[in-house]
Amino acid sequence: MSQKTFTVTNDQTGEKYTYPVIEATRGPSGIDMRTFYKDSGHFSFDPGFTSTASCRSEITFIDGEKGELRYRGIPIETLATEHTYLETCYLLLTGKLPHRDELVDFDFELRHRSFVHEGLKNLFDAFPQDAHPMSTLSSAVAALSSFYFEHLTIDEEAEYQEMARRIIAKIPTIAAFSYRHSRGIPFIYPDIGRSFTENFLYMMRAYPGGKMHITKEGENTIRPIEIEALDTIFTLHADHEQNASTTTVRSVASTGAHPYVAISAGISALWGRAHGGANESVIEQLKMIGSVENVDKFIAKAKDPDDPFRLMGFGHRVYKNFDPRAQILKRYQDNLKEELGLDSNLMQIASRIEEIALNDDYFIERKLYPNIDFYSGLILTALGIPRSMFTPIFVIGRTVGWISQWIEFKKDSDQKIVRPRQIYTGP
Ligand code: CMC
Repeated sequence: MSQKTFTVTNDQTGEKYTYPVIEATRGPSGIDMRTFYKDSGHFSFDPGFTSTASCRSEITFIDGEKGELRYRGIPIETLATEHTYLETCYLLLTGKLPHRDELVDFDFELRHRSFVHEGLKNLFDAFPQDAHPMSTLSSAVAALSSFYFEHLTIDEEAEYQEMARRIIAKIPTIAAFSYRHSRGIPFIYPDIGRSFTENFLYMMRAYPGGKMHITKEGENTIRPIEIEALDTIFTLHADHEQNASTTTVRSVASTGAHPYVAISAGISALWGRAHGGANESVIEQLKMIGSVENVDKFIAKAKDPDDPFRLMGFGHRVYKNFDPRAQILKRYQDNLKEELGLDSNLMQIASRIEEIALNDDYFIERKLYPNIDFYSGLILTALGIPRSMFTPIFVIGRTVGWISQWIEFKKDSDQKIVRPRQIYTGP
């Protein structure tokens, strides 16, 4: 089959420039316009990259119109309901789901790599007590690059995998330390007898000596339903193709910097309220609304063009029909609200917002639907996770995606240092 092309015409001069089409296996194809400036003397202008592909990728596919999300070709619904987060990590890192033995080895490797150097632990002393866990987390991950400096220059598959497994294993420990520092309570070391997700809950909740909270009825255990809910949340966050934080990770990768500082930059980019920080803001907003009677007033504020107020947890750059991750969490929330002990007042407010927004012309015309962050906060609250840890939990889930994208970037011979152009409009 002959190469498909795309031609751009300069309407002033009539000159035509023809470019090859890069075929996608799913979703829209691209136009290879790398020589556009050299050919035409013009730049393309696309703030926010709404129409620009920065790379070819085999990791994650999203069809925003259909509400479809796949990791390595497998639908998110299958991964979230039939596989664990660790299986999903293995899939993202290697391109295939693990066999039983591979999964056991992977699990044990992550358990044993979950400890951090004592020197890194001491770093937390430098932060003020009330430091937000996202700030300490991103700093500690950047500092991790000095403990594993050898990962700066790697190009063998085994080296990529070791570097990736190290950061995936340590992120929950650093996140839990960040939380415990913010509360001024002693750090709890990982317990290699516990699975990845259980271990994180353990490091958040345990008392020194490894005991959980004790009541007259006995010691509180970490319930399987809680582990399953958090594991599902990690899976739903594991990757999301070229979003703002992943693009940040790839941009830092393009300069040749250490992979862990690229992850640290991704964490910082994720923190903003328009991105991963939205989950914290959703619960703040639901609490601020306070009761179902107040919902109409806040919906009116969200619709008012002169009011900067936005409904947090609504809207998405890519999803224009529904966010499949939100649908999975909503089903989870509805089925397990009693077992998980969801806050019924916040749930009622959330349901009312959802009901109004899904039927209101303002939201319908702009294709604004609840996104993953609208539901994750309610479930995390029920798991006893404090609000300041919602975005760190997004970080734990997303680290595998960032590092898989970092590795893909390194292996891609088409990639260059990121250097957008500008249209100068100054004096
Ligand atoms: N509440 C009210 N109006 C909104 C909202 C909202 N949450 N989101 C978008 N709009 C309006 C916006 O005012 C604009 O209206 P108009 O055309 O009249 O000017 C229109 O919808 C398009 O908005 P946009 O800002 O151009 O859309 P975008 O694709 O650039 O932004 C977004 C996407 C997610 C940043 C935005 O929808 C938003 O700020 N949502 C709230 C924050 C949020 O929930 N973020 C989490 C995203 S999901 C997790 C993740 O992957 O990071």
